[in-house]
Amino acid sequence: MENLVIEGGLPLHGEICVSGSKNAALPILMASILLNEPTTFTNVPDLRDIHTTLKLLNILGCACSFQDGRVDVQPAALQSEAPYDLVKTMRASVLCLGPLLARLGVARVAMPGGCAIGARPVNLHLSALEKMGAEFELEEGYINGRCKGLHGAHIQFDFPTVGGTENLLMAACLAEGETILENVAREPEVSDLAAFLIRCGADIEGQGSSVIRVRGVSSLHGCEYAVMPDRIEAGTFLIAAGITDGELLLKNCPYNDMDAVLNKLREAGMDIRLTDSGVLARRGTDGLRGVDVSTRPHPGFPTDMQAQIMALLCLADGSSMIDETIFENRFMHVQELVRMGADIRLSGSTAMVRGVERLTGAPVMASDLRASASLVLAGLAARGKTTVQRIYHLDRGYEHMECKLRAVGARIRRVPADA
Ligand code: UD1
Repeated sequence: MENLVIEGGLPLHGEICVSGSKNAALPILMASILLNEPTTFTNVPDLRDIHTTLKLLNILGCACSFQDGRVDVQPAALQSEAPYDLVKTMRASVLCLGPLLARLGVARVAMPGGCAIGARPVNLHLSALEKMGAEFELEEGYINGRCKGLHGAHIQFDFPTVGGTENLLMAACLAEGETILENVAREPEVSDLAAFLIRCGADIEGQGSSVIRVRGVSSLHGCEYAVMPDRIEAGTFLIAAGITDGELLLKNCPYNDMDAVLNKLREAGMDIRLTDSGVLARRGTDGLRGVDVSTRPHPGFPTDMQAQIMALLCLADGSSMIDETIFENRFMHVQELVRMGADIRLSGSTAMVRGVERLTGAPVMASDLRASASLVLAGLAARGKTTVQRIYHLDRGYEHMECKLRAVGARIRRVPADA
């Protein structure tokens, strides 16, 4: 195991290039199960979750290779079982369910694990696939699904689940007839998946809105596709500029998909501008001030940015109320931030943050992916040394984070946990 050691208090200055989006790449790679031709993906981030997905695809019969952000996938005879050893490390593995049922009529997928942020069931995926003709049994920790060909259906999601929308979108592409998906997730990553599928010959309309209509086709062909940039990584680096009182220029930043985050950071006192050379971010002249944040499905404020903005608001003037409405149990960073001197009180799904003058370095424990990022941000701003433990969470979702931060002036290094 490794730790990150951060000597905080230095303002960051320079340019950072935003990587390809993890949450777009995962379903798009999984969609290669649907294709019967070779496909090439570019702008794929070099992350643990991506390598887990490639391992899973290899087991399922899609031969994958990864080099410098490029993934080549060669289809071969498909297998139907996604084993527990892989699925337990990454909840998004469940995204192979829809494509496997569409191609093979059978799928055996371990019940997912992943980040420890609440129960995170997959009931909405399963009940929607049942409407398309699939049947499921839960047996020994596995979801066993089968169908005699999927058919189109009219599906209304109870909640706009991101993974559920993606699973159904993929399944519907090869189903017989038309599928209408209502109350779907409007996240940009869903639109990126739809754009990829359309490039492969799928007939999809409405992505980005709350109703998606899919007319099934008999097969999908291969193509070359560049994954969109990562709006969560970009948001994390915008906050790094604000929390360290530095100035960062983000290249390849998906500015148009980030309204809620940009508006909230500006309200909190950051100065963020779109320039010809990228997105320029720094703390405004009046300093940081408290704001209220409530996480919502897109286009609302993303739950994946809640922990990071909390780190920033720990150092803002005044109070902030942060309401987490998407996941229960997504406040595990709070106790760690408090150990660094933050003033945060939790009450159910709400955190009340009172800004403090400064944070101080401390040994802290990462508990999930975005919580880890918030501790790194706090460590960059804190006086003294912060050691972030269990950074394997961070490696699931941030490409070479410490290298990118070091290049803009951070004192941050990775060390073996027992060093
Ligand atoms: C995706 C993202 C994750 C992000 C989340 C919300 C990927 C790989 N992960 O996760 O980073 O935090 O969207 O933006 O893209 N739910 C159910 N039943 C279901 C499905 C979901 O009750 O069948 C609940 C979940 O427990 C959670 C909420 O719905 O409380 C949101 O989940 P969902 O949108 O499905 O998130 P993921 O796709 O898992």
